[in-house]
Parts: sequence; structure tokens; C-alpha cells
Amino acid sequence: MGLVSVSAFLLKFTCIVMLFSPIWAKTHHRTFIIQETPCTRLCNTKNILTVNGQYPGPTIYARNGDTVVVKVINQGNKNITLHWHGVNEPRNPWHDGPEYITQCPIKPGANFTQRIQFTEEEGTLWWHAHTDFDRATVHGAIVIHPRKGSTFPFPKPDKEVTLILGEWWNADVNEVLKKAQMTGGDVDPSDANTINGQPGDFLPCSQNDTFKVQVQQGKTYLLRMINAALSNEYFFAIAGHRLTVVGKDGSYTKPYSTDYIMITPGQTMTILLKADQLKNSSSPSRYYMAARPYNGNLLVRSDLNVTTAILEYRTNINTFPTMPLFASLPEINDTNAATAFTAGLRSLASWDHPVDVPKTINEHMYISIAVNTVPCPGNFNCSGPLGNKLAASLNNASFENPPIDVLDAYHYSIPNVYTPDFPNKPPFFFNFTEDMDIIPPELFLTQKSTKVKVLEYNTTVEIVFQGTNILGGENHPMHLHGHSFYVVGAGFGVFDKEKDPLSYNLVDPPYENTIGVPKNGWVAIRFKAANPGVWFMHCHFERHTIWGMDMVFITKNGNTTDGKMLPRPHDMPRC
Ligand code: C2O
Ligand code: CU
Repeated sequence: MGLVSVSAFLLKFTCIVMLFSPIWAKTHHRTFIIQETPCTRLCNTKNILTVNGQYPGPTIYARNGDTVVVKVINQGNKNITLHWHGVNEPRNPWHDGPEYITQCPIKPGANFTQRIQFTEEEGTLWWHAHTDFDRATVHGAIVIHPRKGSTFPFPKPDKEVTLILGEWWNADVNEVLKKAQMTGGDVDPSDANTINGQPGDFLPCSQNDTFKVQVQQGKTYLLRMINAALSNEYFFAIAGHRLTVVGKDGSYTKPYSTDYIMITPGQTMTILLKADQLKNSSSPSRYYMAARPYNGNLLVRSDLNVTTAILEYRTNINTFPTMPLFASLPEINDTNAATAFTAGLRSLASWDHPVDVPKTINEHMYISIAVNTVPCPGNFNCSGPLGNKLAASLNNASFENPPIDVLDAYHYSIPNVYTPDFPNKPPFFFNFTEDMDIIPPELFLTQKSTKVKVLEYNTTVEIVFQGTNILGGENHPMHLHGHSFYVVGAGFGVFDKEKDPLSYNLVDPPYENTIGVPKNGWVAIRFKAANPGVWFMHCHFERHTIWGMDMVFITKNGNTTDGKMLPRPHDMPRC
């Protein structure tokens, strides 16, 4: 490309290092102070952990190609780490964030500076705490615009609006977690679902603060949607309006027009909204935006509250504000509606935004996903199934955080921290998606371990995630750090390795970082392990992560310099 070589030529005389960063790339500096902040919702005030006193936290803005350097200062009262969800962080697992995977937590009073480098990512992503249940309030948006001189692959919208879906507990979130860990039972559901931190018009003491978006007839708005919730997946819709999804997880999609979306924890969507409903002076001027949980397994207790925000047309007629129009949403357990929406997402696959799906696969993995139990510690009766303690697993290995992070153990070759034996298939096969009542209770039990899968640099990997109905199935949002992956196939039932690959989409599969493995079904993803380092993969339901629905990839260094991990930063937090 002409521009690249010209700018490289000019920079050659000024600074050798700059040769590698194009002229348009900028470095931004931010300070994130973790602190306790009083916050009132649902008629109660409690202290929550925030970044810079904000809930939801501050938005990070950048352009494709930029770097953002964030100094994280922990003035809170507990250990914390921050993760930049969906950012590959090429060669730099050191700054990725998951506690005990790539770093030890930042202790109260300590600080840690993290570099976030945007390479292929463009669109909407987010950042969040990666410790305990801290993510409930410590999260915010990341907005990545096209680089200077480049444009959106759609007409420029008139305005951008960030919408973060989340959950609110009246109790301290880490007390909620502790209670569940002590009893061994499930986590108490949240007390409200929220849009930009607000429960909306239908929950106590909330109506005055309902989030509102002012729009003008005829204009187009870009909605940046993030599901930051710990447990809830959501259907989301706006009364009277259609939505056009144009991006998912930091990558563009073919414009996809729909009446509702379904978004799981960890996912982000970039959506065009045309404000076209104020047709004449008698048209309603206020419309609800609403999110209702999707829960494919009603045996799991969840927060069923609908959260609302308001879309408000600016009019010159001074009318008395009327009740906004209601949005219609699929039923809470409508798995077909959830699956149908997800199946419609396609990569843009254009000249400027091509796809590069691995066609030959070096490493085939088949990973079963389950909620399980482990024996109740001591001689107590836990409140999990059959008196046991709830756990979760991938290929029946229930991940346990090691006492020092996997990355340091790998880097310094410290033994007995992890074992490199994460299996490529489940240890035993059964009819994974048969009725949960028929699954024998012996299959509920799992075991704790810290297993990783080691990959040679540049290995192409296919993972087929297989949902199981042990203790009832759910749609599990599986998230991979350090990479996006192509979602090449999905279906119901048990994956058939002869037939199902024949229907893979290798032409324009969506390029994502978090994919729901449907209840009673499977999903196939492909990626290339071209990012040396240590990368966490887990279910993005926070309690499932904590219960052990996780594993770690270690991608070895390649032979060239740009195939090797960056040096270990000097200010890594200590355990
Ligand atoms: Cu959004 Cu491991 O995280
Ligand atoms: Cu899960």
C-alpha cells in the first residue's frame, strides 16, 4: 500500500522503532483508579467497586492501529485485575488480565500499567474486572473507530450511543459469591437487570433515572451494545423499530436486519437504528428499549425482571409526555428465537474486510461442557444437587486457579503449577444431549485440576463444543482470550463428525470472541494459534468460570522475532 511505504520512508530518518507503527497510529494514556463508591439503586445504597467513581465505568476510545496505555491504580479494598475483552494483545499475554492465568492480582495500594494494542479489532468491545464477581460493577465500553482516512463499511451514522446491559444485586456481589461458595449451592439471582446501570421504569425507586436517548426523525444512530451481566443472556428490542446489526465482537458483519437480538455475557454488537417512526404529528414520540433474560433452563433460578430505557423523539409540538410504546420480546425460554437470531450473523467478507478461515486443521478438539458437582468438603451437606457442591467442567476437567499465574509458571518453567494434559476429547462418551432425568448421577461428579493445552506456533485448531444435559443444559457463552475465531457450524443434538462438517460455512462465518453453545447442541469454531502466550478459554457466565468451566492454551514461540512473546514487564504484580 502506497501510504504505508511513504510514511515508513519518512519515519526511517526519525526513529527506527516508529518504522513498525504507521503514521496514523496514536498512543493514548489513561488512568483507571479502582475505588469504593457509594451507589443507590432499588431504594438502597451500598458501596460498589468502580473505576474512577463511574458505574458503568469510563469508555476507552481508540482507532484501529492505536495503543492505549492504562495505569490501573488499586485504591479499593480487595485484589483485582482488569481484562480487555476481545483485544488480541499480540505477543503480549502479560497485559491480558485474568487472575492466576496471566498475572497475579493487583493488591490494594498497588498499581499495574497495561498496554492495549488494537490491531485487527474494529467496532465495539469492552473491558472488565477478571477477579471474583468484581465485573458486576467494574466494566466499561471500548470503542474502536476505523483508522484515519478509512471509513465504516456503512453510511456514517449521525450519532453513537453505548448501551451496556448488566445486573444489580442489592447485596455486596462478593458476599453473594462467598455465600454460594460456602453452601455449595447456586448463586442468588440478581435483583435487577440494567441498561447503562439503570433498572428502568418498572423497578422500585428507578423511574427518575431511566436511561433515555433523544433522537431526531430521519437520523441514524449507531448503538454499541455490550452484555456485561454475570449470568443473564438477553433478548433486546426497541418498540416500533427494526435493528440492523453491522458488527459483532469487534468485527464487521453483513448488515442483518431483525426485530430483536439475543446477546450473551461477553458479546458485543454494533447496531444501526434508523429513527423513522415520527411519521406525523399524531405518531407516538416515546418508545421503550427493553431487555428480558433468555434462560433455556428454567430449573436455574434467574432474575426475570425486564429492564427498560427510553427512545424519545425530539418534536416541536409541546405534547404531554405519553407512556412509551412497549417493545415485544421473545419468551424467556424461547431457545428457537435465540438460535434463529444467532444463526443469521455473517462476516462482512468484503474486499476491505476479508475472511481467512483455516481450511486445513492440525488440531481437532471435541470439548464437552457440563455443570457438575464435587463432593462437599468436610463432612457437611452442601446445598448443591444430592448434597454435593456445584462445579463445572470442560472435558470433565474442572479448572482450578493455581497459586501463581500460569504465565509465570510457563515463563520461568516452575513445576507443579499446571499439567499440559488437557484432553482433545471427553474421557467418556454418552448421549450428551439426552433428557437430563435419564443421565445417571455418577456422571454428575467431576474433579479439580489445572490442565492446559500446549500448541505449536501457527497450529490451526478446530474446537467442537458439545453441550451436555448433565444437571440440565444451558446456552454457554464460550470465550477465548488472545484470538477471535470463525464460527463455522452449529446444530442441535450430538455432533456427528461425518455429517456435520459437510454443512460448515467456510465462506462468510462470523468472526467472534464469545459464542453461545446452544442448549441441547454444539458449535464448531476455527482459529490459528499465531499469538504466542498463555490464553484463557472459559464460559462467560461468571459463576461457571469460578466453578471450573475453563481451560488454558499455551501457544509456544515461533522461530521469528515477531513470533515470540514480548519480554516480561518489570512491574508485574506479585502473588
Ligand atoms: Cu470477558 Cu476471560 O473474559
Ligand atoms: Cu456456562
